[in-house]
Parts: sequence; structure tokens; C-alpha cells
Amino acid sequence: MAWRDYLKDGIQLPDRVYVFDTTLRDGEQTPEVSLTPEEKLAIAKQLDALGVDVIEAGFPVISKGEMEAVKTISEAGLKAEICGLARAVQRDIDVAVDCGVDCVHTFIATSEVHMAKKLKMTKEEVLARAVEAVEYAKSRGVVVEFSAEDATRSDWDFLLEVYTAVERAGADRINVPDTVGFAIPRAMFQLIRRLKDRIRVPISVHCHNDMGLAVANSLASVEAGAEQVHVTVNGLGERAGNASLEELAVCLNVLYGIPTNIKLSEIYKTSQMVSSMTGVIVQPNKAIVGSNAFAHESGIHTHGVISSPDTYEPISPELVGRSRRLVAGKHAGRHGVEEMLREMGFSLTKQQIDEILAKVKEIGDKGGKVTDADLASMAEALTGSLPPEERRIRLEDLIVVTGNKTTPVATVRLLIDGKEYRSSHFGVGPIDAAIKAVKNVVSEVAAFDLVEFRLDSITGGTEALANVIVKLADESGRLVSTRAVREDIVMAGVEAIINAANRLLYLRERKP
Ligand code: KIV
Ligand code: ZN
Repeated sequence: MAWRDYLKDGIQLPDRVYVFDTTLRDGEQTPEVSLTPEEKLAIAKQLDALGVDVIEAGFPVISKGEMEAVKTISEAGLKAEICGLARAVQRDIDVAVDCGVDCVHTFIATSEVHMAKKLKMTKEEVLARAVEAVEYAKSRGVVVEFSAEDATRSDWDFLLEVYTAVERAGADRINVPDTVGFAIPRAMFQLIRRLKDRIRVPISVHCHNDMGLAVANSLASVEAGAEQVHVTVNGLGERAGNASLEELAVCLNVLYGIPTNIKLSEIYKTSQMVSSMTGVIVQPNKAIVGSNAFAHESGIHTHGVISSPDTYEPISPELVGRSRRLVAGKHAGRHGVEEMLREMGFSLTKQQIDEILAKVKEIGDKGGKVTDADLASMAEALTGSLPPEERRIRLEDLIVVTGNKTTPVATVRLLIDGKEYRSSHFGVGPIDAAIKAVKNVVSEVAAFDLVEFRLDSITGGTEALANVIVKLADESGRLVSTRAVREDIVMAGVEAIINAANRLLYLRERKP
């Protein structure tokens, strides 16, 4: 990687980074998210399979259900260290320890604003309480991680005093929360550097994403020597959330080359599971796990990835348990559409692909979307239709008028063997009127009966493409079936009828 050579000096990377997952605690504090103990256990098992080092299973003192969940997870025999959150008060610590956790994560705020306005405690009282809590938790025989809540907005000298005191009191790790996501990467770097000079136990960081900097701030902390990062799956958490597990794990592995215990191939599965259980949808353009993270639409990009995926994919989708997606939209190019159709099993001529591409662009220009199913239907419709030079009947124009107080009426203008014909007809609905008008004109060259008319929407929604299948029979009983796919139901019906009439004429000439 070109930039690595420029940055070799000046960063002090740890040999390995530990991943402390707080999806089941801070992640569950996402507005409107609440998980049952069973759901928490299922997620904990998946986090364990993913390879996180610590699972913060919850804040046991807050409710009976939470206590039950933390207890069940502690007893599940998982490889990860199971941790419970506790304020720096004896009761919280006791409740957590009684759930059978391996680790208690105890915290008290150290910023001026929190101490004065929330805790109503002096600095001396906060310092004493922090030490007491750590000593007490240690006396209960568990691993202790201590957090100075709102650390980044605290006075850094006081912060250092608190961390030094809790280390002396027996804390196994200290955690530095950027509680309201107010730090910048350079500030995190400086703070962790300062702490590293004085603290011997591992240093952890807990970055919130209020300014969209949670992952950057965590990485800056690692550059300064932090050995552990707090993360959540999909970046869930209070307000704008926490540093996202998937982004941090991939950055550490791919960009920094620092090992973690995370099995990257389990990332997507974990993200999907957490999204479905919490009901929090992953934004499509979210890095690594968003539905667009490995999707390519524009012609230049699809052509690039088909030739060589690394042209537009920084990592291969398989690395994180995903696969590439090519999308047909108005920016699509021939190569992409051709490749998508080939993957679906269609082998089309150049002309047919161009016809589909033109339709895709037309739909895209109107703001429409083309799904894989739409594309397949277009290809199926085309493979059953005649090449343009064999189509004797062509639609020039169609006007349909309908309304709640008007009998639907349609006017068509058709070219048959280059000669123009017009016709208007009433109908019980716009499709009926249009088909009758077409039939009027076409009967000049070929009489037919409409044996079947079937209309489906391919995907659903008001903008979905209409898929019309028709069966026509001529006087001799010859039967043809064709279909057409369009955003406009009436147009799809008319196109299907014209396709079928063309096919009847073609067969009549070739096989009288
Ligand atoms: O954001 C925060 O400060 C926290 C603490 C409990 C560590 O979640
Ligand atoms: Zn938090």
C-alpha cells in the first residue's frame, strides 16, 4: 500500500487489538431498541462465533430481564469474557457479580459538567468513589475495567489522577470514553499518548459517533498505543451510536495490518442478525455491511470490476462474508447488464442486450429502479420476441383517456408494413379500450382472438414493472404466447398484443 511507506515512523502500533463488544449494552441503548433475554443470548452466541474478546452483556441492575439476560449469557459457556456494567456503587457491582460475569465494567463521570450538574459531587468525592468501587469489585474476584465517563471533556490532569488511582486500586484495564463524541482524532491520539506514559495496564477507548468520528477516533487511539476498542455491531448505541465493529475490525486488519481475534467472514451474518433482531435497518451506503457496499451500477465501474475486481473494490466482498452485486440503473453499461444476464443464465444477442439496456436507462431516467427480477423478465420477454426487422406491426402512438366520470377511450397509431393506421375504441377500462383499438387496426392484416391476458407486477409497489402475458389465436387455430415488461400497465398490454400479432404473421408466412 503506497501510503504505508510514508507513515512508517511516528506511529506506535500495538501487536494486537482486543475487541470489547458493547452491542448488548450501549447498542441496546439505541432509541426504541429493546431485546428479550433470548434474543440477547442468540446475539451473544453469534458475537462469540465472530470472535470478540469481551461481550458486555448488559447493565444488570436496571431490570429483572436484564439481570436474567446477563446471567444466562454468563452461564452459556462462551469463549469471550462476559462483562456487566455497574455504576461506581456497591449494589450495582454486587448485582453484576451475582449474575456470574467474568468482568465488571464500573464507571463514574469525571467532567466538570457531569460532576457538577449530574452527580453533584466534588472532584475529591468522585476520585474517592472511583477507588472504592474498583477496590470493592476486585474484592469480589472479577476482572475490573474502569471508565471515567465523559473522559475527553474532563480536565486531563484530573483524569490522569483518577486513572492512576484506580490502577493502584487494582483496575485491570482503564477505558477512556468519548461519551458525547466530542473529540477529534488528534485529541484522542494526544490523550492516549499521555496516559500511556503513566498507566501500565491496558488502555481501552469507547468512542461515540455524534460527529461521525467514532471509528477515526478509535483508530487514532490505537495509533497512540490503545490496546482495546469498544465497538457495537452496525454502530448501534446511544444517539448517533458507537464505533462500528465491522468498520474497525476491517480497518485494523486491512489498513493497519494489526491482528484482532475477529473472524471477518462472520461479519455480514452478524450485522444482518443484529439488524433483524433490533429492527434497526442498516443504511444502504454503510461501509462493509450496507447493501450498496459491494454493489456497482455505473458502466465504467461494472466494466472495471468484471475485468478485475480490485479496480473498484478495496477488499473482496467474500472477505466479510458477502458477494458482489451488479445493479442495472440509468448509469449502467453494456458489460454490466450483459454480465448480470449471463449470471442469470441468459445468452442474448448484442441487439437484445442493447434493447434491454435502452429500457433500463429509460426507466432510470424516470427515477425508476430495475431489480434482478425485472431484468430477467425483460430478457425472457425479449428472447420470445422477433428481431426488429421481422416485426411488421409497430406502435407509433397511444393515447388513453380514463376517469371516474368518463368511459375509457384509447386511440392508437400503428405502422403496418410502413403504412400508418389509426383507430379509437371505448372499453370497460383503459387496457380493454387500448387492446380493442389495436385489434381494430391489426384485423386489417390478421384477425385474431385474445385467448388469455395475464397481468402481474414483478416486484411489488406502485413503481413496480408490469409483466403482461398474452395468448392469441388466429382463424386457423394457431396459438402464440408472448409477454412484455413495462412500467406502464397499458403500454405493457399493448406491447404484448403487438408482439403476439407480429409472431402470428411471421408464422403464417413461414409455416402456412
Ligand atoms: O459512553 C459512555 O461514557 C459509556 C460509559 C458507561 C462507559 O457508555
Ligand atoms: Zn457509551
